[in-house]
Order: sequence, then structure tokens, then C-alpha cells
Amino acid sequence: MTNLLVLRSSATGAQSVSNGLIDELLSQWRAREPGVRVVNRDLDREPLPYVTQANLAGIGRVAPETQATAETRALSDLLIGEAEAADVLVIGAPMYNFGLPSTLKSWFDYALRAGRTFNYTAAGPEGLLRNKRAIVVSVRAGLYSEGAGVANDHQEPHLRTLLSFVGIDDVEFVRVEKLAYGDEARAEALAAARAQLPEVIRPSFAAAA
Ligand SMILES: Cc1cc2nc3c(=O)[nH]c(=O)nc-3n(C[C@H](O)[C@H](O)[C@H](O)COP(=O)(O)O)c2cc1C
Repeated sequence: MTNLLVLRSSATGAQSVSNGLIDELLSQWRAREPGVRVVNRDLDREPLPYVTQANLAGIGRVAPETQATAETRALSDLLIGEAEAADVLVIGAPMYNFGLPSTLKSWFDYALRAGRTFNYTAAGPEGLLRNKRAIVVSVRAGLYSEGAGVANDHQEPHLRTLLSFVGIDDVEFVRVEKLAYGDEARAEALAAARAQLPEVIRPSFAAAA
């Protein structure tokens, strides 16, 4: 039985390309594996509070305990628990201003926590979320996978770094780009992404054994 954690972050709701592709992915996954378990976390509908001076200590820094730090730690525990229980993270990642939506970045601010999801060792950092993979539905209006745009892609490389830091190196991107390059380019990009969906659906039957 596969456990999926779905993180959505689009601010365009029902119009969202990433949400639409995630819905298709989930419906195809359920057809392949009716028992698949899905935990949904929509970071746009229910945004996480920013990590600030008032609550930072809740995710590990030494400071006097306050209600704010206790609440932050509880939220971080909850989010990390959801990630630990998942076999696959499905991440909806629109490109916003060359990077991640701040709502998605906030999830990582809670989930990357020393002693819980990574450790520093004498040999450097070590990720603690083992035996997991990620599927990222990456959506952008422009072109960043080739040409001059590559240098401006602070979305996919950032996600790779964040995921790798906690031990998730098996990351597949379902990418939609050139959405703003006219109807033909948009239709081609969406068709290519849809065609890729069946390739990334790999039930973790081993997890059920
Ligand atoms: C605040 C904001 C910033 C954006 N910045 C970029 C950008 O830097 N580069 C780009 O190619 N597209 C950018 N876009 C376009 C989105 O990536 C595009 O609309 C995509 O469809 C968003 O995914 P979604 O449909 O799942 O919301 C931006 C959109 C918004 C709302």
C-alpha cells in the first residue's frame, strides 16, 4: 500500500494547472492501486504561519518556551510526521518570481529540522527521511529548461536541494512550461505532462509487505 503526501501551493485554485495535474495523477493512481492512501495538505488554502523571531525557537533553537514556540513545535511535529509516514511526496510547485511560492517554502521551513529530518555529522549533513521519493509537478509560464532561462530557474534546483538535504534524492519532475507562449505551446506542454503521468505512478507494493 502506497502512502502519498500531497502538497499543493497554487494560488489559482480551480484554474490551477498544477492542481489539475495532481488531480489527474491521483485519479490514475487510484485506478492502478485502489488502496492507495492520500494525505492532502493545501498550503494555499491553509497557509502555515511564517517562522519568525516569536516562534523560531519552536523548531529547535534554544530559547524560553512560550505558547508561540510550543505551537510552532507542534505544527512542525505534525508536518514532519506526515512526511515520515509517506512513501511518496507529490508536490505542486508553480514558479512564482523565479522560485517557489512562499507558502511552499514555509512548509520546508517547518519540515527541515535538525535532529528530526537531518543531522550534521563529522562528514557533513545527513538526511533522515529515507526510502522515499518525490514527484514534483512544476509549472511555469516561461521557458527555463533550456537557453537563457536556465540561469533564472531558482525553483526546480531549490526543490532538489531541499529534498536532498532531508534524504530524498529520487525526485521526478512532471514539468509544464511555455504556458504563456501561445495556445499551441500551451496545449503541447499540457499534453506532454499528461503523457508523463503514468510513468511516475509506481505503487510501493514493498511497503505493504
Ligand atoms: C505571483 C506569480 C509569479 C509568477 N512568476 C513567474 C515567473 O517568475 N516565471 C514564470 O515563468 N511564470 C511565473 N508565473 C506564472 C505561473 O508560474 C503560471 O501561471 C503557472 O500556471 C502557475 O501554476 P498554477 O497554474 O498551478 O497556479 C507567476 C505567477 C504568479 C501568480
